[in-house]
Amino acid sequence: MAHQNTPTSGSHSGYFDEHRSADVVNDRMAGAGNERLRDVMGALVRHLHAFVKEVEPTHEEWLAGIDFLTRTGHMCSEWRQEFILLSDVLGVTMLVDAINHRRPSGATPNTILGPFYIPGAPEYPNGATINLDGKGEPAVIRGRVTDVDGNPVSGAVLEVWQTSNDGFYDVQQPDLQPPHNHRGIFRTDANGHYWFRTVKPRFYPIPDDGPVGQLLGAIGRHPNRAAHLHVIVTAPGFEQVITHIFTPDCPYLNEDTVFGVKQDLVATFRSVEDQDLAAELGMQAPFLLVDWDFSLAALQGEAA
Ligand SMILES: [Fe+2]
Repeated sequence: MAHQNTPTSGSHSGYFDEHRSADVVNDRMAGAGNERLRDVMGALVRHLHAFVKEVEPTHEEWLAGIDFLTRTGHMCSEWRQEFILLSDVLGVTMLVDAINHRRPSGATPNTILGPFYIPGAPEYPNGATINLDGKGEPAVIRGRVTDVDGNPVSGAVLEVWQTSNDGFYDVQQPDLQPPHNHRGIFRTDANGHYWFRTVKPRFYPIPDDGPVGQLLGAIGRHPNRAAHLHVIVTAPGFEQVITHIFTPDCPYLNEDTVFGVKQDLVATFRSVEDQDLAAELGMQAPFLLVDWDFSLAALQGEAA
């Protein structure tokens, strides 16, 4: 398809007509120096023209679309990226992620990074808590990091972050939450084990006070993300995993507004009454226990 857009031949004029509209536009890109850019723009023009031919917008509808994109741009700032939000709610972000992270069977899948990751969270020893405000249902997350054959990966770095029990990240409430609340870094031990204490995450809405939120309302969708805990797992020689652990009983599990839920990422939050196990883990019964392993795919060309 790369050479479909050859320069205008003698049989075609460069004049616009409805039937050949995409070809007329793409014929002008023969001089593009970057072949990939020419291919991408050629596909964009073909799909965009096909979309317009299917929808047949009125002039007013076309202007409404231009106005929506204009407002989306105006909403963007150093702290707010409304176009990424638009990509998220249309499923495009997850599709790009899926295309770029096809993994072998058994490897922990990726999901969306989201806007609330911050590098440089405090590093804690295994067993520490990231619940600095004391609110919420206490939970222990523990497990192993292994390669896809089950061999332990020691020294793997786990960066974790989640909302408070009120459904907000620390950076959304700098005056209400302690710095780095529900955020921390842990490392696996020699046997690939990790564990930390936190609280059960809860669902929260994406920022919906802009044009993307208005669009969601207009098409009958809510802005809520299914409750989750974010984890990035990094280890030398392995593909980095940017993923979530989802709670199984969230009312939005099947309708996450950014389509981030995958079946393999839904955990069991087991209620523990056992006083001995509670004491061993520094908890008070009852508490929630999540046994959760991560399986890393080796980087291509590198032995695990
Ligand atoms: Fe999140």
